[in-house]
Amino acid sequence: MSDEKTEILELVRKYHQLRSDQEFIPGVTLVQSSGATFDDDDRVALVEAALDMRIAAGVSTQRFERDLAKFFGLRKAHMANSGSSANLLALTALTSPTLGERRLRPKDEVITVAAGFPTTVNPIIQNGMVPVFVDVELGTYNTTPERIADAISPRTRAIMVAHALGNPFAVAEVAALARKHDLYLIEDNCDAVGSTYRGQLTGTFGDIATVSFYPAHHITTGEGGCVLTHSVALARIVEQLRDWGRDCWCEPGKDNTCCKRFEYQLGTLPYGYDHKYIFSHVGYNLKSTDLQAALGLSQLAKVAEFGAARRRNWQRMHDGLRDVPGLLLPSPTPDSDPSWFGFVITVQPDAPFTRRGLTDFLESRRVATRRFFGGNLTRHPAYVDREHRIAHALTNSDLITQNTFWVGVYPALTAQMIDYVVATIREFVATS
Ligand SMILES: Cc1ncc(COP(=O)(O)O)c(C=O)c1O
Repeated sequence: MSDEKTEILELVRKYHQLRSDQEFIPGVTLVQSSGATFDDDDRVALVEAALDMRIAAGVSTQRFERDLAKFFGLRKAHMANSGSSANLLALTALTSPTLGERRLRPKDEVITVAAGFPTTVNPIIQNGMVPVFVDVELGTYNTTPERIADAISPRTRAIMVAHALGNPFAVAEVAALARKHDLYLIEDNCDAVGSTYRGQLTGTFGDIATVSFYPAHHITTGEGGCVLTHSVALARIVEQLRDWGRDCWCEPGKDNTCCKRFEYQLGTLPYGYDHKYIFSHVGYNLKSTDLQAALGLSQLAKVAEFGAARRRNWQRMHDGLRDVPGLLLPSPTPDSDPSWFGFVITVQPDAPFTRRGLTDFLESRRVATRRFFGGNLTRHPAYVDREHRIAHALTNSDLITQNTFWVGVYPALTAQMIDYVVATIREFVATS
């Protein structure tokens, strides 16, 4: 490394220290619901990639993809520019003509949950398929194998479900159900990096899984996401779809990795047409940059530490609120160890106060609150006129829309901040 570069990066480290020591003043400092947690290594990694002008995917991307796959114990990871793009890639990959009879087709049904994030559902609609909405449980906020089994029809071909705010759904049982009915299982693991079910990481049970690296998530690359799979064939389709649909697999800036760049005969193209410009899928460009991957690598080194902090904060909040009347506190799915995304609370319908009252009070005391994403998505304008099937009454999803919210447990929150949130909730409930 040049002396100038070493000097710049040392200054970046010092700059980080100047930026990071901020005192918490209860009622003044915002207690965020989520946010990135950075140290000096993260800042240096990002600046170093910028100094090298690694503005497209490159060495850090390759390493990050390899390390992500290793972390999950899967064969392949492909970075994308967001978790939503990863979801689009994951489901679209399963429509590839190269899968023959096993490919998903328009009008096929895909089972998903009503209460959640929209881009778990959108790829189903974007691929001309039909989302089948099932309800979730209160407390775990996940659906159950029984509810999914109840929704299966002769047209059902896949299950695409998220682990709710870090809490695993009973994914081993759902995977078994998928196998029994010959359905694909797509795990939206965007909110659950590091969570385990029966000791196994979520994101590793299904055919394909996704992660988001948006700053609210367990590790961040700014914007970003990835698709994970054990199947080399699916990974190759994901890569093609991500990279304009092209057949070629050369890394950016590389040529002729396959050693027969001008010797292909595909489609009805003339023999020898440049492989770089042969398109075998109707693709997108959903790629990311090395700036993101450099940050991702530095964040991945802290994934266990971040998970421990999330669990510690969640437990402290749970202990502090255990005896508060009128609130349904979250519960981990049996046999799971969640790396929590947030702390979900439902105001009991018979409580002498409302969710709005409580969240307004929290916000007025500088505690950020969030809804359970879209609540019952079928009630949103985007989905009203889209073909879908509602498998059974969405009673809990509706209650969640009315009465549920969450507050933060992300690693940058201190014990003092968690205690402040607990005290604020207790104060509201005691005076309502
Ligand atoms: C469950 C779930 N899936 C997908 C996404 C989309 O991720 P991104 O914001 O990176 O597009 C989110 C975003 O928070 C999410 O919570």
